[in-house]
Amino acid sequence: MSLIRTVIEGCGSYLPDTILTNDDLAKIVDTSDEWIYERTGIRERHIAAEGELTSDLGTAAALQALEQAEIDAKDIDLIILATSTPDNTFPATAVTIQANLGIHHGAAFDLQAVCSGFVYALATADNFIKAGQSKKALVIGSETFSRILDWEDRGTCVLFGDGAGAVVLDGQKMNGASDARGILATKLRSDGRYRDKLYVDGGPSSTGTVGHLRMHGREVFRHAVTNIADIIQETLAGTNYTTKDVDWFVPHQANRRILDGTARKIGLAPEKVVMTVEKHANTSAASIPLALNSAVADGRIQEGHLVLMEAMGGGFTWGAVLVRW
Ligand code: UT7
Repeated sequence: MSLIRTVIEGCGSYLPDTILTNDDLAKIVDTSDEWIYERTGIRERHIAAEGELTSDLGTAAALQALEQAEIDAKDIDLIILATSTPDNTFPATAVTIQANLGIHHGAAFDLQAVCSGFVYALATADNFIKAGQSKKALVIGSETFSRILDWEDRGTCVLFGDGAGAVVLDGQKMNGASDARGILATKLRSDGRYRDKLYVDGGPSSTGTVGHLRMHGREVFRHAVTNIADIIQETLAGTNYTTKDVDWFVPHQANRRILDGTARKIGLAPEKVVMTVEKHANTSAASIPLALNSAVADGRIQEGHLVLMEAMGGGFTWGAVLVRW
């Protein structure tokens, strides 16, 4: 049997130069390095410079991914940008990245699923490619959450940061074997009953303002471990694999305690979990490709490895992607 597989050919990431440490934050709000690190595993986050936009971060990550994939920007016919912090309400920030890359054909659009944005975008691009509608795609997660934080709310401003990550996807004819490279399974979920647990209190249609991020942290935490564990099991259930077969678990980087709890619940060895939250905090849709790129760059993820990505965020939305690297 011959079918198209979506192969990840390269990845890249970008973090703005300015670093804000927990100690820096303790000068702004009533908090401490000890509290933040113990509850979240975060030590520092990066903050975009004045005038540095989500499109700039995304473009930098995309260029690195294209270089690693050794694919010319002109060959890309689809760009999906996962973001909740677009440059403007419209046009889509993806078209700015498209223009920055000198691409004038194909399609580019934004996708908004907050912290689950990258897995939503990856699943969407995979379907475009499998349907034959696209051949080579860029999937980017880019965020400037520092712009929507309430810097007087210690319950949220310590948790997030700015950054971007990207992957280059290539549709390749395969024999369908599960040991062949490419995306093997994707699963997406949402449940809008929980949309007020993690949200922004403004928007073009409601208040006419950008608004600030608001979160019921405990409730998000409570749902996160259960939803993530469930989606992982559902994703693996459609394949011949179990958690024991997974070489690398690359989760959304929100909170070390959520990741530890999930790993314990599904029986995943902690040393297989790629964890970068300490260095960049929660960068929403950018966090998975940031973690992915670090594990590829340092040689942990190798061709042939089974890699499982998952995320959960505002909406609630959640999802997972299983890929043979
Ligand atoms: O993509 C999903 C994104 N969301 C998340 O990952 C968030 C999931 N939730 C969490 O990770 C945790 O709920 C938090 C880390 C946000 C908070 O931890 P918690 O153990 O649930 O703390 P809490 O909100 O129940 O607050 C406990 C105490 C409170 O003080 P009192 O009322 O007990 O006196 C807070 O006011 O900690 C206080 N607190 C802080 N203290 C120092 C809240 N934020 C801070 C802070 N520094 N930054």
